[in-house]
Amino acid sequence: MREFLTLAEIDQAVQAVRAKLTAQPTVGLVLGSGLGGLAERVENPVVIPYDAIPFWPQSTVPGHVGRLLCGSLFGAQVLVQQGRAHFYEGYSMAEVTLPVRVMKRLGIDTLILTNAAGAINPAYQPGEVMLITDHISLVGMTGFNPLRGPNLDEFGPRFPDMSQVYDRGLAELARTAAAGAGIRLHEGVYCGLSGPSFESPADLRFLRVIGADAVGMSTVPEAIVARHSGMRTLGLSGISNKANLDGNTLTTHEEVLEAGKMIVPKLETIIERVLRRLQVP
Ligand code: HPA
Repeated sequence: MREFLTLAEIDQAVQAVRAKLTAQPTVGLVLGSGLGGLAERVENPVVIPYDAIPFWPQSTVPGHVGRLLCGSLFGAQVLVQQGRAHFYEGYSMAEVTLPVRVMKRLGIDTLILTNAAGAINPAYQPGEVMLITDHISLVGMTGFNPLRGPNLDEFGPRFPDMSQVYDRGLAELARTAAAGAGIRLHEGVYCGLSGPSFESPADLRFLRVIGADAVGMSTVPEAIVARHSGMRTLGLSGISNKANLDGNTLTTHEEVLEAGKMIVPKLETIIERVLRRLQVP
């Protein structure tokens, strides 16, 4: 495990990816638990397994395939991360967020982050989608901010502003996309935890009090690193389960993957419409 990565090391990963690319990607897409099926829509993809890229964290979790695809998705040139690595797998924050930095160095300025999340907001149902309007970086606040360590000035400043992590223009495109397709799109605050254990009922009641609508084990570090380097980010959570605030039901990874089947077609529709819209000058 490498706690910090230097720019030279990040650029070794960039070189390995760039050497395989046949087109310049403009949008990065990270697919969360059970959502990897979206990658099947990429046309004529160049496929790069994670183990071919120096320093790249391997996915060890079922539901995360572990490869990069570069190709055309709904007319946009995309780089798709089919499966991500998580802090709970034992990776450092620098490793977990390396893919975002590689995307930035490859010239990608628009990032779409997806994840599976548990609903804390009682209005949310499994199978629905939430637009992330803001996040609570609980893991960052308690010491594991992905920007901890030597600042890489080439990406951004030591003390970056986080008042607008999720781009308002992209959020508006997602709203229009969902409304146009008749998809219910919630809007709320995603709270990122470390996992891998799911939350206790008391954890969940605490998260509700502090203003979280959905909870998960990813996305926040990537969004912070993207914001640091001036990328614009769209965050979409697939609601896979209702948080068990009263302690009377169990939460399982199988349930999360199962809900993904309902969520993928909705995310696909929203992302298709956003990508097409982005191509209109
Ligand atoms: N808690 C944390 N992470 C999750 C959940 C959850 O309930 N569902 C999917 N990812």
